[in-house]
Amino acid sequence: MKQSLAQMSNAERLELLTQCGPATDMGRLLRRFWQPVAVANKLASGKARALKALGEEFTLYRGEGGKSYLVAGRCPHRRTLLHTGWVQGEDIRCIYHGWKFAGSGQCVEAPAEGDETAAKVRIASYPTHEYCGLIFAWMGEGAPPVFDLPRREEFERHGLIVMAREQIWPMNFLQQVENSLDAVHVSFVHLAGKVGPFGEAVTANIPKLEYLETEAGIRQIATRGAGNVRVSDWSFPNNNHIVTPGRRKESPWVHRGVWNVPVDDTHTLKFGVYAIASEGPEADAETIAHFEAYGDYNPAEHHDALFEGRGWPLDPSLQLTPAQDYVAVMGQGVVADRLHERLGKSDAGIVLLRRMIWRELEAIRAGTPTKQWRRAARDAELTRQG
Ligand code: FES
Ligand SMILES: [Fe+2]
Repeated sequence: MKQSLAQMSNAERLELLTQCGPATDMGRLLRRFWQPVAVANKLASGKARALKALGEEFTLYRGEGGKSYLVAGRCPHRRTLLHTGWVQGEDIRCIYHGWKFAGSGQCVEAPAEGDETAAKVRIASYPTHEYCGLIFAWMGEGAPPVFDLPRREEFERHGLIVMAREQIWPMNFLQQVENSLDAVHVSFVHLAGKVGPFGEAVTANIPKLEYLETEAGIRQIATRGAGNVRVSDWSFPNNNHIVTPGRRKESPWVHRGVWNVPVDDTHTLKFGVYAIASEGPEADAETIAHFEAYGDYNPAEHHDALFEGRGWPLDPSLQLTPAQDYVAVMGQGVVADRLHERLGKSDAGIVLLRRMIWRELEAIRAGTPTKQWRRAARDAELTRQG
């Protein structure tokens, strides 16, 4: 049996939290959850792409019938990248010597070898599930759990516009997760450069904070005065649900899902889902056009300009808010130095998060059951100011 966390130094315990590879405890924990891996409409039928996530290489492809598949990154024959080959029907054929694999991972053809060889070859394959414009995958061991924890009632209501985007930030995922559980940051980070409607709504006071463990993760309650209570239901281990202002002053607030999925220990795939209530055909067309015009903004591509103070992006929701978070979180370094930080009482969410992760890692190390996470009974709500 592995050493208990209680016998480890603080530095060793902290190091466990930021790793994602398949042989690490945290990597094994992350693989016990459905994780988003791509924006669905960026993968056309009959196309394949390389995917790096959780420190591993994968091939993601969409069969000609429209179903998505996630299989190993490389062909087992001479180890070339599988996504450079051809999607044929629901299978993928390697570019090098033509071995063909079904979505199950089974080799179904090895032209220069014969059927007997093909029958003996199988590559890794992972279940996928499309939801809210994202392709999710189950990269854990054994049968996947029912696709339930990532779901939100607020994303499934009738008449919503649901849009998704992805970007890669060049830093470890955990500091981004911790930022989700740090309600005080909103009162400062989102004032930087320009306030924007998000800042106007929530930054007036330092909130009174409560963090409670739920069946899904952590409920965060930030009270900034009567009528300004912000409740976010964060789901273990890397998914937040928040509510932010709409495109126009009179627009309803937008329900947003955020996932921080490690690419490796120093890069993060950040997925965002925006669920926007319809305001009529004309306004909806503008909302979609606005998302298409600004949704591709990635602050990491403007790193130098942001850090040298050469200006903030203009669009408040799709550009400014992420740019403000990026500067604060990237400013911590590629992997935040948690050993030398000085936590205060307002960091209760971060302390609770780490305690919960360590508890789960302890169970994984001991081979005992981890918590059975379930979707929160009540989702996030926001009482608007005034
Ligand atoms: S390397 Fe793929 S078939 Fe040879
Ligand atoms: Fe933020």
